[in-house]
Amino acid sequence: MPETNLNIVRKFAKDYDKSILKNNWTGPKIIFDESKVFISPKSKIVDLGIGTGASSVLFQQAGYKITGLDGSPEMLELCKKKQIADKLVLHNLEKTPFPLAKNIFETAISNGVLHLINPVKSIFSEVARILKPNGIFAFTFDNTDNVLSYTKIKPGVWETKTQDGVFVYKYSEQYILQLLLQNNFEIEKQKQFLAYTNPELQKKFNFTLIVAKMK
Ligand SMILES: C[S@@+](CC[C@H](N)C(=O)[O-])C[C@H]1O[C@@H](n2cnc3c(N)ncnc32)[C@H](O)[C@@H]1O
Repeated sequence: MPETNLNIVRKFAKDYDKSILKNNWTGPKIIFDESKVFISPKSKIVDLGIGTGASSVLFQQAGYKITGLDGSPEMLELCKKKQIADKLVLHNLEKTPFPLAKNIFETAISNGVLHLINPVKSIFSEVARILKPNGIFAFTFDNTDNVLSYTKIKPGVWETKTQDGVFVYKYSEQYILQLLLQNNFEIEKQKQFLAYTNPELQKKFNFTLIVAKMK
């Protein structure tokens, strides 16, 4: 299932930048605006699921050095052309360990990615491993609005298959907070926001943003 998801989403790479404009993807501005006060100058940032760099570009423009991981070669190729990241690494985030040394980043971001991944447990332990002490993890995830149209697969986790055949997941805030706690993070900020609108389906999608700090 995870490999299939990646194989499907990589087909969307060429239209991704157009689609985020059409759907008014607000995640990049939100994650930057809400996390910047917690990120010290000269921080090294890793972007998990960097895609075409829509979120990282704001951090790059603010002077941060970016490393990007993504499972789609097509997304990484588009990102590379924009010269946003110092380093881009092809990696399926469901596989551990991430190909990164421990304690090297001050900050990790992941925007609009966790709803494509199941399970997410190892994402949190891997982020804790690669972050330096007091490191920041800023990320977003689909929240549990309209969860009744999904299938509950375990407490706090719901799944559905989109028309394109992509398995997508909703995680309860409580489920995510538990994973943060288990990995020694404390919450600095938590906020729900309108992430994007699908004009064809006439649907609005709300996400939750969390900025967490390693104790
Ligand atoms: C909706 S895009 C978000 C891209 C970017 N973070 C942004 O803010 O626009 C989701 C990204 O996650 C990547 N992705 C999805 N599942 C993945 C996985 N298992 N491993 C690595 N990357 C994955 C996709 O290739 C895609 O680039």
